[in-house]
Formats: sequence, C-alpha cells, structure tokens
Amino acid sequence: MITNFYMPTRVVAGPGSLAGIGALARELKMTNILVVSDPVISGQPFHAEALAALKASGLDVARFDECGIDARCSHIDQQGDRARREGIDGVVCVGGGSVMCTGKGVAIVATNAKPMAECTGVGKFDRKALPMIMVPTTAGSGSEVSQWTIVKDEERHLKLLGGGPLSFPDAAILDPVTLRSLPMHVAALPAVDALTHAVEAYLSAIASPITDSLALGAARLQYRSLRASINSDDEKAREDNLVASCMANIACGNARLGHGHALSLPLEGHLDLPHPYGVGVLLPHVIEFNLAVLPDKVKPLAEAFEVATTGLTRAQMIAASADAIRALYADIAFPVRFTAEQLPAGRVREMAQRAVPGLYAGIAAHNFDYTTAGDRTTIACPSARKMTVAQAEAIFARCLA
Ligand SMILES: [Fe+2]
Repeated sequence: MITNFYMPTRVVAGPGSLAGIGALARELKMTNILVVSDPVISGQPFHAEALAALKASGLDVARFDECGIDARCSHIDQQGDRARREGIDGVVCVGGGSVMCTGKGVAIVATNAKPMAECTGVGKFDRKALPMIMVPTTAGSGSEVSQWTIVKDEERHLKLLGGGPLSFPDAAILDPVTLRSLPMHVAALPAVDALTHAVEAYLSAIASPITDSLALGAARLQYRSLRASINSDDEKAREDNLVASCMANIACGNARLGHGHALSLPLEGHLDLPHPYGVGVLLPHVIEFNLAVLPDKVKPLAEAFEVATTGLTRAQMIAASADAIRALYADIAFPVRFTAEQLPAGRVREMAQRAVPGLYAGIAAHNFDYTTAGDRTTIACPSARKMTVAQAEAIFARCLA
C-alpha cells in the first residue's frame, strides 16, 4: 500500500510560547489580522496578552469573539465576506475546536469567495486559505494542526467536514497557560475527543508506521495524563494533554478518522449531541469492533492503556482495552452511555442509516436518502473493518443499554 504523510504546520510548544505570537505573525507576513475567539476566552488574561503582543508587533487587529459551541456556516460566511472587504491577510484563532474551525472556515471562504457549505467535502476549493495561527485553549480537537474544519450548517441540520492541503494552519502555539482558565468538567470533553482521534487513526485501514507511532504515542500520553489533568491542578499533565492532542491530530489528519466520528456525525447534526460525547461514548465499541480484524495491533494498544497483557489472549486484551477506557471515564466523570434524550431508542435505526455517507462526504451527504440504506449497506469509513447499518444499529443499541 502506498501511503502519504503531510503536515506542514509549524508547532511551537511550551510554557511562555504565546508571548512570541507577534513575531510569528510577522514572519508569516501578516499585517492586518482577524482574531477569532469566543465570549469566554476573549475575557481571559492570556487573550489580552496575545492581542497586546500582536499590536506591539505593529499588526492591525480586528476581532470576532462570538463563536459558539459549533462552528456555524453563517458566522463563517459573514466573517469571510468581512475579511475580503477589510483586506484581512491573516487569521489568528484563540480558542477550542469550534473557534479554530470557525477561523479556518473564514480563512477558506475569504480567499475562495464561495459559501462554506460549498467548500465542504474533500478538496472542494482551489485557492490557499489565508495564513493562520492557531492557539488552542483546550487539549482536544487538534484542529491547530489539521487541514479539516468541521462546521454546522444550521439550515440543513448537518455537521459537515471540509478541507484539503490548502487549509492547513501555518503555525500552532501550544502554551499550557491557555488551559488554566478551564473548569475541569469542560476540560474532560475535548481530551476524550483527542483520545478518539489517536485510536481511530490507529484503527484505520490507511494507517502507516508513521501515523501508528504518533497515534500510539498520543494514546499512551493522553491515557497516562488525563486523570491527573482533570482531577488535579497538575500543570505538567495538562501540558501533556495538549501535546498528545496535537500528536493525535497529526496522526488522524493522515490516517483519517473512523467509526466513532462517522456514527457520531448524524447524532451531532440531527440530535444536537456535543461532538465529544458522541465519539467518546462510541470509543470502547469502536475499539472492540475494529481490533477484531487487526491482530497485530491488539497488544500495543492494550499496553498504551496500561493493560497488563502477560498471559492474556487477544480477545481478553481487546476486552481489557475497552474496559480501560470505561474505567478512565468513571474516574473523570465521563459517561459510557447515551441518555434517552441524547439518542432516543426510536431513532437508533435512522441514525445508523444516516451514518452511511460517512465523515468525508461533505454537503453531498445532504442529497443522500437515508431510507434507502438497508441492513447490509456499508458505512463509508476508512476504519479497518467494514461496518454495516445493522452493525452500527447494534452498537448504538449497546450504547443505550
Ligand atoms: Fe473529533
């Protein structure tokens, strides 16, 4: 199999690294920038310090601080138009996944002059996005090193993914100071998402030795540090979370994401389930389903989750890996099931059918008639094992039990 590995984003990491943001923007030839953030983050001291550093470097700074839980197409289209009108030549995102996806969308729309929804799917735009600097404030989405943006089309009730080599951020700054303001229950959500990125990259049919080393390293580091970062003030653990999230996304940016993300997508679009809950609850099931066809990958993943593998059969290691995730969730107060409100039992079949186009279909998914999907229809997904609608339905049902 021929594989490709591509990651052009410069990563600057470590305590104090945010102070260099002005010089970095100058290096990238930015002069007139749009800083994208949300109402909470924009009130934090480190946000003010980042703005001051940018202005001290002689940059003109415009702001958009209204990002919400999802990156909305309406916000992106408005700000993309604004960027063109105002001659914005760089985008700086300070926030979590939805902020970075919003800013990335703005950078894409600004140069391609068409609505965000039309830029979704794989490689659906022709011009390089505006230069971008990402400052993640959660250890989670990994969007800072990702070509992909995940956006919500509010009118069509769709979560859509878009991107290509033209939408990689130019630089990412990983400064743990940005994680300090986060309440612990908020911090847990994106960190679980990051763990799924690592695992799904590892379970992909297009994984390579390069992505596997990053994915396993990220899974190990995230698993080892998550409890301490959530349940204590351990700054080193939070810094490890941030680096692990970044590594996980470099892996899944190349090996792509799998069944957790494919099955979660309709729940997020049609039932408004927050992304980390969708992918996190599905994760132990995704591990069990895919490791069954990846015998050589069972032991390394189990050991990344600190399973004592000596004397265990492969089947026992797979079960122990899923159990290790459930034990972790118990310790960080993350659920292992969907509530009846999050996934009503009467909509399980429909959600399994709606998952068929997969994560990478973009706006084309809107034209898919889910009622045509039968038990044996396969879900489009790069994961190692093919999953049918009937199997997805069974997994959803186990997530409710
Ligand atoms: Fe994710």
